[in-house]
Amino acid sequence: MITEEKVSEFSLEGRFISFVGDVEEKPKRLRLATSEGERYIKLSKELRGSLRDALQPGDWLKISGEQKYKYKTGELKLKAKQVTIKAPSTQENVFQPPVAAPRTKACVMVCQKSSCRKRGAGDVCQAVTASLRERGLDDQVAIKGTGCMKQCKTGPCVVFMPDKSRYTGVAPKEVSKLVEKHFAAKLKPEESKPELSGVT
Ligand code: FES
Repeated sequence: MITEEKVSEFSLEGRFISFVGDVEEKPKRLRLATSEGERYIKLSKELRGSLRDALQPGDWLKISGEQKYKYKTGELKLKAKQVTIKAPSTQENVFQPPVAAPRTKACVMVCQKSSCRKRGAGDVCQAVTASLRERGLDDQVAIKGTGCMKQCKTGPCVVFMPDKSRYTGVAPKEVSKLVEKHFAAKLKPEESKPELSGVT
């Protein structure tokens, strides 16, 4: 019988960036900057309430839990069961989230609600992170997880700020061209490529 997914334990260390989703409620996910890139990690129900007031951007965390790898889609989902603050943030090690840096309020907002996540919003987030980093824009353009944008059936839904351009049905492979299209002014001329066409 063909196994569709592999479930195993994971343990990761990295710097806490932010919670994802509605922080006024109990946040369901967090972003962690690790040596292998940024990770979105789901929180177990037990952790959601207790972590909201306990974590500060820049805290160095050790997170362990369960990971599921889907062979069909290549999707890897991480769910935290234990979060330990190994070193609290200090003036020296505070991680400066991209959201605080830009004066132009440039950011990419990706819907993180269930319909969009089912349609691949997690992969789109990772593609945005990789694309910004590849172009050296990760300190100028923030990534934000948002609530439902009422376009659930055509997700994943993504908005580029400050021009408020909204895209639906975004595939990870389209992200690179969208980043170039919207943030070309921030790129050096030789890094800017032709504009995207055909993505709605
Ligand atoms: S769930 Fe993403 S737009 Fe509604």
